[in-house]
Amino acid sequence: MGSRLLVESHKEVEIVCGIVAITSEKLFSVKKDLLFGLKKLEYRGYDSAGFATTEGNYGKEVGDIDNLLRSTQKDFLTKTAISHTRWATHGGVTKQNAHPHFDAKKEVFLVHNGIIENFLELKAALEAKGYIFRTETDTEVIVNFLHDRMKTSKPIDAMRDFMKAAKGTYAVVFFKTGSDKLYAMKKDSPLCLGVSKGRVFVASDIYAFSHETDRVIFFEDYEMAEVSPQGFQFFGMSGPMKKEPVQIQWEREPVIKKHFDHFMLKEICEQPAAVERLLHSLKTTQAKRMGEIADMVRGCKRIFFLACGTSYHAALIGSYLLSRLGFEAHAVIASEFEDFSIIDKDTVVFAVSQSGETMDVITVLKDIKRFNPKIIAIVNYPYSSVHRMADNYIEIMAGQEICVAATKTFTNTLVAIYELARVLRNHIVLDRIPSIIEEVISENESNVKRLAKKLKDKHDIFVLGHRVSYPIAREIALKLKEISYVHAEGMMAGELKHGTIALIEPGVPVIGLVHESNRDRMDSALREVQARGADVYKIGNHSKDFMLPDGLNEEEYSIVSTIIGHLLAYHIAKLNGLPIDKPRNLAKSVTVK
Ligand code: F6R
Repeated sequence: MGSRLLVESHKEVEIVCGIVAITSEKLFSVKKDLLFGLKKLEYRGYDSAGFATTEGNYGKEVGDIDNLLRSTQKDFLTKTAISHTRWATHGGVTKQNAHPHFDAKKEVFLVHNGIIENFLELKAALEAKGYIFRTETDTEVIVNFLHDRMKTSKPIDAMRDFMKAAKGTYAVVFFKTGSDKLYAMKKDSPLCLGVSKGRVFVASDIYAFSHETDRVIFFEDYEMAEVSPQGFQFFGMSGPMKKEPVQIQWEREPVIKKHFDHFMLKEICEQPAAVERLLHSLKTTQAKRMGEIADMVRGCKRIFFLACGTSYHAALIGSYLLSRLGFEAHAVIASEFEDFSIIDKDTVVFAVSQSGETMDVITVLKDIKRFNPKIIAIVNYPYSSVHRMADNYIEIMAGQEICVAATKTFTNTLVAIYELARVLRNHIVLDRIPSIIEEVISENESNVKRLAKKLKDKHDIFVLGHRVSYPIAREIALKLKEISYVHAEGMMAGELKHGTIALIEPGVPVIGLVHESNRDRMDSALREVQARGADVYKIGNHSKDFMLPDGLNEEEYSIVSTIIGHLLAYHIAKLNGLPIDKPRNLAKSVTVK
């Protein structure tokens, strides 16, 4: 989600954001109620934030929501308000460009996630009518467009006109000053309604109101709603429509750091419980679905795993495992999918996305639906867009992950994929994973800290893996980049000698992921770099650097070696005083292309 800005150089800037709006029978506090919900969506972006109440009071601030709370000295009590938190990929992080946006007379206040591709064209038409633009955002075009249309039409008709005229993606919520009604519309960017007693929420995702209600309605594309404290009415392009709330089952865990300094560490340390919970559900509530999915795989001609970032690394392991079991299986990064794939009704596509809202994944799913593949979602968020587009799904049950970097969701995605492989051919034992994780974390704290001290000032780190540990090498390198801001490369050990070895010189750190299944190749690659003076560290049995239990199978090894890599990235970042849970330039749900 995001909106497109035009900065001075007329460069387009995309932003990813979170929306929370409330309309209520009783007065509520902007700070305690509205911004509390917004804070729960902060993982969507934290470059700037803002709110507006129906009385015309508003506040905006550059920085995260705490900054907005600090700078908003006075609290406001209101019955209807909107709020927004934003993430920009580059440039354009100013107070003026922060949401909400409004027309010149402050009659309409609006928040938006998405990109209006033809906003210059729409803007020119509005300028010809006398509208003056004060920001460079495409969002201001939406406000002025609706403001103009609402001079003669009802809000729903104005939104319908907008949806006909606009090209792009958007989730929009607005109010007219002085009214207690909220209006909302959606195309591509996620939006949902939370229905509570005497109070209705409109938000980018369900976590914004999980503390208050479990009754939810999801907007589908080209749907609109008029929302008042007493209820709501949905509309499609051709008229009113009836939609009923679904009941969400929350895992009611408070989102607090407990005694941990950062959510990242908390989330790494809670993995034994997260894996246990998933394994239990895979044997009980999710067992039937897993059986159905295994049948789909058995009956298909080819399998694609579709994912981005950390989820892609889990997907890559999935493709290795299913290939070993004799299936034609490929993992493709979602943004590169179009040139790769033969998709037909005999194809199974695993859409792997912890958030279930990654736009690169959703775009592919929308595109391939016409070929009728079987789509299986592997998600942490049930009811997310990816889940709702799928024929079947596995919920990875990691619990909410607050740190932008994926840790426990990666592990649980792997466990879900391993369980699928186990159901397909009963050859893997997964039950020991929770206790092994526990042991590895507790026995390696000082080892990880020691290595972090040695590596904290390094500019480049190479991580080598082979077979299942190759995707793990890439995963560890990704975390070293995103959390520790160290340039890192995760490589196939065998590829090093085909070029990259030119970069190895005395003192360059190389981390090798060594397991019985890859020992020969790993040993020779590590000997090659050692001969050139590299500082070699091993994650594996018989390593002087880390303690791993004997006899780990490949699946167990992949998980604990990742955890050591994640902890290493964490401790390097901590020693360097970096903002671990909110690394620069990133957001947890990347809902723009
Ligand atoms: C890295 C990270 C990202 C995500 C990627 C996909 O720590 O979190 O690389 O893995 O943006 O996100 P999902 O899984 O939500 O589709």
